[in-house]
Amino acid sequence: MPRFSQSARGMRSSEIRRLMAFAADPSIISFSGGMPAASLLPTQVIDELYGSLSLEAKQAALQYGPTSGYPPLLASLTEYLRSKGLPFEGQSLIITTGAQQAINLLSKTLLDPGDVVVSENPSFIGALAAFLSYGASMAAAPLDDNGIVIDELKKVLDANRSRAKMVYLNPSFQNPAGIIYSEVRRREVLEALAGRDICLLEDDPYGELYFDERDRPLTVPLKAMAAAGEPVCYAGSFSKIFGPGLRLGWLLGPAEIVEKCELAKQSMDACSSTFTQVLAHEYLRTGRLPLYLATVRAAYARRATIMLDALAAEMPSPVTWTRPKGGFYVWVTMPESLDASAVFAEALKSRAAFVTGSGFDPYGVKKNCFRLAFAHTPEEKIAEGIRIVAAAVRSIL
Ligand SMILES: Cc1ncc(COP(=O)(O)O)c(C=O)c1O
Repeated sequence: MPRFSQSARGMRSSEIRRLMAFAADPSIISFSGGMPAASLLPTQVIDELYGSLSLEAKQAALQYGPTSGYPPLLASLTEYLRSKGLPFEGQSLIITTGAQQAINLLSKTLLDPGDVVVSENPSFIGALAAFLSYGASMAAAPLDDNGIVIDELKKVLDANRSRAKMVYLNPSFQNPAGIIYSEVRRREVLEALAGRDICLLEDDPYGELYFDERDRPLTVPLKAMAAAGEPVCYAGSFSKIFGPGLRLGWLLGPAEIVEKCELAKQSMDACSSTFTQVLAHEYLRTGRLPLYLATVRAAYARRATIMLDALAAEMPSPVTWTRPKGGFYVWVTMPESLDASAVFAEALKSRAAFVTGSGFDPYGVKKNCFRLAFAHTPEEKIAEGIRIVAAAVRSIL
């Protein structure tokens, strides 16, 4: 038996990664992976952007780059983030290998074994895996339709006063619940954290993916609302607004924290792919992002509507689900006595798949929930897939 490190012993395998295999099987209607539809990826744009690069930019693309990021991308990303109201005074920005790496770097920088991370329940499985790999314990507060439940958040913070090092939140179109925090709730979160000296990690890969322009004001980041000097870090990603295969994200936060993360990154991967950073810079510089967002917002809104209509028509009454205004996900809650893995096994027999919810529970115990991702399922298959899932629920009721 190899003598694994404490860190390796804390690692959990991701249910999602295992279930991604189903997403690739064309005979299965998959609601499992949290990824963009292949048909919606901007492949043509990649051809155009690469084709128009100067020799110098192509050479830079094949070269190592600074750990903090390809300087032209840092500049264009700064401009984009400023336009969303994010602050730069006293802050640093680094490019990371996906938002996943931003979460991991911050965890490595802040967490010792035994420290507590406070999160939403449910929470993003990839973040939970990162926190646990550094020996952290989780403490969580539930969500309602407007965000994390403030009284519960305060209780958890009070109960872990000395050990809580980080609060991890995904306020816009949360993975897995699909909900968005109201403006009031955003302010209440910041008030609850003020003066506690706990780093808030705001993870925001979906904020641009609102379905209705009128909901845009809801997506203002917590970091843009926080008082100067509060330890708030903001992670974002190109995965949902360009393509996950780029493996590019970012971390913006207080300079002294982000500079430590940059040091940690040096020994991890030296720099994120310069090749994709050059393309991401061109994507921002040439104004492709707003064009792409207009297309995918409409496409995801259609998929969500089809899914929500099918759920309303098919799901038996004790089952409830969230009604997302953006992002990729619907979260389904069954009566406590039911086990989502039994529904999964039943649905799979009729060739539909989703992700069971226990992996998203920071305590790993809740069995009666599951996540349906609508973003990568072809429109014409969604209603049929929901019929299969609803029949599977009815069969175990
Ligand atoms: C909430 C959340 N954070 C982070 C990530 C990781 O994204 P990336 O592809 O940028 O590593 C995901 C991916 O699904 C996510 O849903």
